[in-house]
Amino acid sequence: MPTFIEPFRIKSVEPIPFLTRAEREENLRASGYNLFRVDADQITVDLLTDSGTGAMSAAQWSALLNGDESYAGARSFRRFERVVTELTGYPEVIPVHQGRAAERILFSCLLGPGRISVSNTHFDTTRANVEALGALAVDFPDLVSEFGGDLDVAALRELLEGADGSAVGCVVLTVTNNAGGGQPVSIANARAVRELCDAHDIPLFLDAARFAENAYLIVERDPAYSGVSPREVARELFSIADGCCASLKKDGIANIGGMIALRDPALAATCREQLIISEGYSTYGGLAGRDLDALAQGLLEVTDLDYLRYRAESARWFGDELAKAGLPVLRPTGCHAVYVDAAELLPHLSLQELPANALACALYAEGGVRTSDLGTLCFGRVDPAGGPDQPAPRELLRFALPRRVYTRNHLEYVVETAAAVAARAHGIPGMRIVEQPRMLRHFTSRLEPL
Ligand code: F0G
Repeated sequence: MPTFIEPFRIKSVEPIPFLTRAEREENLRASGYNLFRVDADQITVDLLTDSGTGAMSAAQWSALLNGDESYAGARSFRRFERVVTELTGYPEVIPVHQGRAAERILFSCLLGPGRISVSNTHFDTTRANVEALGALAVDFPDLVSEFGGDLDVAALRELLEGADGSAVGCVVLTVTNNAGGGQPVSIANARAVRELCDAHDIPLFLDAARFAENAYLIVERDPAYSGVSPREVARELFSIADGCCASLKKDGIANIGGMIALRDPALAATCREQLIISEGYSTYGGLAGRDLDALAQGLLEVTDLDYLRYRAESARWFGDELAKAGLPVLRPTGCHAVYVDAAELLPHLSLQELPANALACALYAEGGVRTSDLGTLCFGRVDPAGGPDQPAPRELLRFALPRRVYTRNHLEYVVETAAAVAARAHGIPGMRIVEQPRMLRHFTSRLEPL
């Protein structure tokens, strides 16, 4: 296969810092062994997240100057609305400042105490927004499907036909399934879920943060869609659902933004009432006009075939190299990240000793590389009776790939760092939480090595 190259050239750069090992070790101590608490100017290669960390194109930067900052009915909103409706087919477009605001607003219209939201996997803030309403977030990942991100249709059917069926307020397909390895949801699965939702009169939504990457992976993996443009596949996926909420900090390729887009005008009206209370008027939703212009442009760029191929090929290459370096990599890779099974690399640690966080800290100490824990620190459940945590289903460490930011040389450096850590994996100590908040503990908790 010919070498893939980045389908862009670099016009503006910023320096990255290089620290000594002693400085990095001191940073770990001072941050309570939680990389969210380490300042970005102490990070050499930052693979914490692909959210809001992308590089905008020249066309996006120039769109910023075109921003219309009128409070109501700004031209920027109309452009954003047109692009979103053309992409999704949904006529009701509600901008918000980021994905979790969309989740809070949409769920507050659908869920309440005793109600249930079902998903292939709720992401961390998505789950938190469901639970904050007193509702239950149920994950039914289909772990054996070829697509990897599908929802377990048999489990959904059983729930809907059982005693709790009438409590289900919505089904959410997260595309791609971020918590479960960044794997795509297939069109066939979305259709099967839709059929069940129709039979029980339950609305189906997409958490569409990575809709373009999901579409590209469908083109790659489903022979029925080979040669179909990612934009068309995305449109088809949107057509199966009643609407979506989305963080546009991912596939909007902008630094901030999100949306709710819907078919139902009555539900949209209720969402807008909530929007005005906390986000802003319905034509800006907590964003500046210029943000909406940058997003509109980003949403056009993100379905470009060369761009998406580069995303998928870089993730595949990076995954292969990390595997050669001795890390247990989840395969096949998706687009936005490479996931590593930290429990497999560190079998001497119990899941309560937080292997993913232990590995994240070791990578930072070794080379100033920042990754994120999607294991027990992030998704484990605290026992209210004070017993040991219930571990997450998988102890994953994520190397997220910001869009259009790092070159293959940066990633080669990460591979070298990972190889050095893997070579002394048996000596990596476990972690203990010494201070944690009630919710979303991975963001702020403090830990110490055992
Ligand atoms: N849904 C998914 C699937 C996400 O991955 C995220 C964010 C959100 C919703 C929330 O969006 O951050 O704009 O409020 N994921 C980021 C990550 C933070 O690192 O994967 P937000």
